[in-house]
Amino acid sequence: MKAIRGATTVAADTPQEVRGAVRELLNEIKEKNGLAEGDIVCILFSNTADIRSLYPAKAAREAGFSGAALYSSLEPEIEGALPLCIRVLLFVETCRDVRHVYLRGAADLRRDLKKFSIALDGPSGSGKSTVAKQLAKEFGILYLDTGAMYRACALAAKDAGVTAFTEESVAPVLKEMELRVKYEDGAQRTFLGDRDVSEEIRKPEVSMAASAISALHCVREKMVEMQRKIAAEQSCVLDGRDIGTAVLPDAPFKFFVTASAEVRARRRCDELKAKGFAQEYAQVLKEIEERDKNDSTRAISPLRRAEDAVLVDTSDMRVEEVVRYIKKKIQEKV
Ligand code: DC
Repeated sequence: MKAIRGATTVAADTPQEVRGAVRELLNEIKEKNGLAEGDIVCILFSNTADIRSLYPAKAAREAGFSGAALYSSLEPEIEGALPLCIRVLLFVETCRDVRHVYLRGAADLRRDLKKFSIALDGPSGSGKSTVAKQLAKEFGILYLDTGAMYRACALAAKDAGVTAFTEESVAPVLKEMELRVKYEDGAQRTFLGDRDVSEEIRKPEVSMAASAISALHCVREKMVEMQRKIAAEQSCVLDGRDIGTAVLPDAPFKFFVTASAEVRARRRCDELKAKGFAQEYAQVLKEIEERDKNDSTRAISPLRRAEDAVLVDTSDMRVEEVVRYIKKKIQEKV
């Protein structure tokens, strides 16, 4: 048995308003928690004393939630309480991840449940993707690896036989390209059409090509639009180069994660080796420096720390320390 909490408000104390608000709240709870009608055992409502026109339980029955046991009660009058508010507690048979739902004026009651984005920008090898994955797991939100999207663009262009990336040569590829990101057990998989390219895009030659292609206006326009759409639908951690400056300049939490080029090259070497693409340290360092230069000197959305981003130098920090530090900064701001 699981318990799900929710609340909403009505604009006025009328039966019509109560019916609309209750239906909306229960349907949203059902949808967000993937519930079927039969999963709900009982629904307990309470409402503030300024609502007297209709019992929320009656509104729920009218809305078709008649299989569950329904009950309504009146809340005491508490000074400063949110007016015209309906609260609900549902008991359900099963539910994987409980998601509480706070709508309309009641959204402010649980600011911690509001949709939010965490922007993690920084150069390659700074450790931001490892940290982003960990943060997403701890906050129970989505991780969007935006670098993977640019890498997939580069692979699509290479596959189409494009060797010199220009607006003219790449625009037709983007038009045809069916780039999708999917999630399997919380891990991002990147697809071009039906082809899972998640591993292929990690190859060093794709890294260099991604850095080059990401300087093009047509590429950035398309990627930024996709990224904003994903971030608008759910809370997520996004890592990239321009999240805090261009993709989500209003993100409430922004971090610029960096480390010295040498430390980053060492980390990248270890990562590549673990994936079976072992490379010389000197070569990796050279490529990292080259990519840094490309990414931070390009004309459109260069790699840059947003003025309001917290700087995190991970050169001498372990992943757990970085995650702990960022979490602390986020919690201080909530
Ligand atoms: O993070 P990464 O190494 O997977 O990114 C690959 C390339 O994509 C990187 O060299 C720059 C580019 N990129 C970008 O321009 N903007 C982003 N938000 C993410 C990556």
